[in-house]
Amino acid sequence: MNILIIGAGGFIGSHLSEQILKSHKDWKITALDISSNKVSHMLPDENFDFHKCDILKEFDIQEEKIKQSDVVLPLAAIASPLIYVQDPLRVFELDFEANLRIVRWCVQYKKRVIFPSTSEVYGMCPDEEYDEENSNCVTGPICKQRWIYSCSKQMLDRVIYAHGIRDSLQYTLFRPFNWIGSRLDDIYNENNGSSRVVTQFLSNILHNKPINLVDGGKQIRCFTDISDAIIALIRIIENKNGCANQQIFNIGNPYNELSIKELAYMIVDLAKGYDKIRDKANNTDIRELTAAEYYGKSYQDVRRRVPSIKKAEQILGWKPTTSTRESIKKIMDYYFR
Ligand code: NAD
Ligand code: UGA
Repeated sequence: MNILIIGAGGFIGSHLSEQILKSHKDWKITALDISSNKVSHMLPDENFDFHKCDILKEFDIQEEKIKQSDVVLPLAAIASPLIYVQDPLRVFELDFEANLRIVRWCVQYKKRVIFPSTSEVYGMCPDEEYDEENSNCVTGPICKQRWIYSCSKQMLDRVIYAHGIRDSLQYTLFRPFNWIGSRLDDIYNENNGSSRVVTQFLSNILHNKPINLVDGGKQIRCFTDISDAIIALIRIIENKNGCANQQIFNIGNPYNELSIKELAYMIVDLAKGYDKIRDKANNTDIRELTAAEYYGKSYQDVRRRVPSIKKAEQILGWKPTTSTRESIKKIMDYYFR
């Protein structure tokens, strides 16, 4: 199988590529990204064909590589909330416009597309568990610019779904719920808001800065270990008996429900077990501040986000097994052992 991964140099792309190269020697990856920093160790592998490409500007190479592929994973996007509120149009241009172009090529050349939707499409849905077929997508007023990411992804979900019906586009939509692991954003970037929360807290400890609990850290997430998540993704790509065709799957860990405050204390506590950061962890302050102070006034938060994974269990035979504590330890082993 020829697999085209656009955004292969990112967190999910790099872990997916690593696993494919290890376990599926008959699959060939064509990788496009603006950066190869996180995949430099894979560049010598003959099954990993990396091309530097800015998908906002370089169209010919994208079209050519899509034509040559069997399946396309368009993973390039901005996925950090601070950018949604500070530069929403950049999010729209990359996450929506550039990905729409890719989806249209997949329709034109009849290629299977596996598209990363997001837990954020459910927005502030009050359901106990978010369900792919029944939960509503609940976003806030236009002045709350945070939702431009959610809306961009939701619109692409709807476009892909409609092409499935009208043009028999072969697709799978997967919705990651806070996947975490090594290479998630950049722990060496010391700016607040530069990373998603686990990386942000590690970066705060590393740079002797306080950890910020936005609105007291009462909001709940279900963190999903990247190794569990990649198993689900591989099953989607394998698509045994067409089981993933024209399906939407939540890929998350409902057993890992945790508040951001609990996460902060867990991370600081675990960091004290590593020589390289023990002293810093002992001195890390955990403070509370408002969302407006941290993100600005156009942010709005998701109070509690828990996936239903019944579909992934029944159709893909997938169930996550890694606790958040184990995940955080694995991440710390990667950076600090
Ligand atoms: P990431 O930021 O780590 O990776 C995105 C990659 O896209 C990066 O390597 C970046 O260099 C590349 N990229 C950015 N602009 C580009 C451009 N103009 N041209 C080419 N490449 C460009 O993100 P990720 O966490 O790996 O997420 C991958 C996808 O999954 C995204 O669509 C994201 O919205 C979605 N997603 C991720 C999560 C999660 O938990 N990580 C959750 C929900 C959805
Ligand atoms: C994330 C991002 O939008 C995407 O990466 C992704 O599509 C999706 O959700 C997902 O991973 O499922 P969110 O969970 O809000 O959104 O992103 P984080 O930046 O990881 O923040 C999690 C929570 O921690 C938020 O409530 C945020 O306010 C809080 N936080 C973040 C803090 O309290 N302090 C910080 O320093 C950073």
